[in-house]
Amino acid sequence: MNLKEVIHTRRSVRTFTSQAVPPQALEELLAAAMQAPSAGNEQPWQFVVIDDRRILDAIPQISPYAPMCRVAPLAVLVCGDMREAHHAGYWVQDCSAATENLLLTVHDLGLGAVWTGVYPNQERVASFRELLNLPEEIVPVALVAIGVPADRAESVPRFNPSRIHRNGW
Ligand SMILES: Cc1cc2nc3c(=O)[nH]c(=O)nc-3n(C[C@H](O)[C@H](O)[C@H](O)COP(=O)(O)O)c2cc1C
Repeated sequence: MNLKEVIHTRRSVRTFTSQAVPPQALEELLAAAMQAPSAGNEQPWQFVVIDDRRILDAIPQISPYAPMCRVAPLAVLVCGDMREAHHAGYWVQDCSAATENLLLTVHDLGLGAVWTGVYPNQERVASFRELLNLPEEIVPVALVAIGVPADRAESVPRFNPSRIHRNGW
């Protein structure tokens, strides 16, 4: 797929087959995430790869909008690393850029994924910290469930000229 096609046909995938994600694909996904721009090029991110069925099954208990983890063979928790984040507050945007790179690459590889929100929900942040034994300076931002799609939604154009403002509001 070319870039335009990847961007315009990506949709969230929430139903997966039982097929595993090949290790080379996972490495490609993480490399794409790490290629994202970041404030001051700090790259203040860490990634927790989750493929343990017991942990995947426990996620919906702490993140109610992530029930697909019961079926997904893999999830990646994108985290901010406060030891590397010296441009105040920008780490959330840095991690979000990494997450989007990951999602687009998932789609380009013919896989499917959905971004499930963690930060800034402090209860979810604390629960993921406990579940995965994260150090204090690591803040979970987004959990991406990944797998081979069992179903894929059609893309819907979202271009909306009323959201564009020229040279001021
Ligand atoms: C910050 C953020 C948090 C999200 N959290 C969830 C979530 O917890 N569960 C879920 O199923 N989808 C979640 N989504 C996915 C959105 O629902 C989805 O991107 C949106 O409906 C647009 O659909 P599309 O991704 O198919 O284009 C989240 C997306 C973002 C960007």
